[in-house]
Amino acid sequence: MHPGKKAASLAAIKHVEHDSLLGVGSGSTVNIFIELLAQSGIRIEGCVASSVKTAKLLEKHHFRVMDLNLAGQLELYIDGADEVDPQLNLIKGGGGALTREKIVAGASTRFVCIADHTKEVNVLGEFPLPIEVIPMARSFVSREIVRLGADPEYREAPPTDNGNVIVDCYGFNITDPRALEAELNAIPGVVTNGLFARRPADTLIIGHDNGEASTRTAAK
Ligand code: A5P
Repeated sequence: MHPGKKAASLAAIKHVEHDSLLGVGSGSTVNIFIELLAQSGIRIEGCVASSVKTAKLLEKHHFRVMDLNLAGQLELYIDGADEVDPQLNLIKGGGGALTREKIVAGASTRFVCIADHTKEVNVLGEFPLPIEVIPMARSFVSREIVRLGADPEYREAPPTDNGNVIVDCYGFNITDPRALEAELNAIPGVVTNGLFARRPADTLIIGHDNGEASTRTAAK
């Protein structure tokens, strides 16, 4: 188990209350979190998963997986990130689950992001920004991304859980994540992009290789 990811996941368990409704993200860090949560003995009323893979892992550990429409507002969302800046804006979607992740984060009162220390950056954008796109709009959206100054690359991967494709964008200089998030989402054919700036994390737990974790909360 990756020591930084494990340290962040262990620290996140302390944020989970008995009998709560929990949103659960996707990725290798969250997978560790799920294993540790199963061992913790904390009773969870229900979980909403941000991907089919996460739902399967939760079910394997006998958590009750719920439809978001039936669960309503969630108390807490736990998810990883590909990059996080000092304001706790994120790039997500390296695993292709960005749209459902953004929905579940939006429906949660608190978002605790768990990551190892390599994910911290001063300015977002070195990690290619993923965009989920309706398949017929792939070329059009890519031309619009070039017009905005970045370099789009079609991800050769199975369709997303929503049946769409991912375009990864290289070279965006993301000095205003909120503005870029809105601009990209306004392109017809874009389902959503991997910037989490309108709804950033509320709390960031960074795990270190020595097994320690540090916690930061976003300034309001
Ligand atoms: C999934 O689409 C992503 O947003 C993940 O949350 C992100 O890639 C973090 O993944 P790891 O925990 O595997 O680094």
